[in-house]
Amino acid sequence: MVMNAESGAIWFKGESGNSSVGVRAFEAQDIGELCTWFGSEADVVQWAGPKLSWHTLEKELHDLFDVSSSAGDFFSVVNKAGDLIGHFQLTRNRRTHQTDLSRVAIGPAYRNKGYADLMLQAALQFAFDDPITHRLELRVFDFNVPAIKAYERLGFQVEGVRRQSVHMKGDYWNTIVMGLLRSEYETRKG
Ligand SMILES: CC(C)(COP(=O)(O)OP(=O)(O)OC[C@H]1O[C@@H](n2cnc3c(N)ncnc32)[C@H](O)[C@@H]1OP(=O)(O)O)[C@@H](O)C(=O)NCCC(=O)NCCS
Repeated sequence: MVMNAESGAIWFKGESGNSSVGVRAFEAQDIGELCTWFGSEADVVQWAGPKLSWHTLEKELHDLFDVSSSAGDFFSVVNKAGDLIGHFQLTRNRRTHQTDLSRVAIGPAYRNKGYADLMLQAALQFAFDDPITHRLELRVFDFNVPAIKAYERLGFQVEGVRRQSVHMKGDYWNTIVMGLLRSEYETRKG
């Protein structure tokens, strides 16, 4: 991964192929586009958990973004044309030395092209560049195979399952907790 700063974004270039992604601060005007990526309550809960609701998503994201300085760091991922292609959030806890990675998404038109891997490499770098991060944690539903594969590829390990932890239209979803320690991240980076 090669990194350089350009046009307000930090660019991450893949080792092979022509893909590269720019990571910049999330902006309020990204919210409209982000909301188009989710077509149902299930889509929203799969992406962001049960605290957000599809019917009120745009307003809830504006409200969250307004207090983002206390809620965590929101990131937008763009391609060379400046299109929004991805999003993630890092929430650092300076007391526990844990950072949470959440709200990971690649826009539907850009999935299965390797952007998730590059975006997540960038997210890990942002998380561990801060010396406060001793461990990085995320939660993912057990049926979300593309997400689990992407996380495992970067070294996240399954640490446990919160069985039937989210109710979704008469069904209960299992939440997998995954973690990556700083020592594991540094060993993999070499
Ligand atoms: C999760 C997400 C970010 C992954 O992005 P992506 O662009 O699809 O990811 P990739 O192309 O890197 O695919 C990841 C892996 O899953 C595989 N994969 C992709 N779609 C798949 C599918 N439907 N079934 C099985 N495997 C699949 C890919 O082949 C790849 O495997 P590999 O590591 O062996 O090459 C994207 O699917 C997304 O935004 N989903 C909706 C929001 C969401 O669920 N976010 C995660 C919240 S925890």
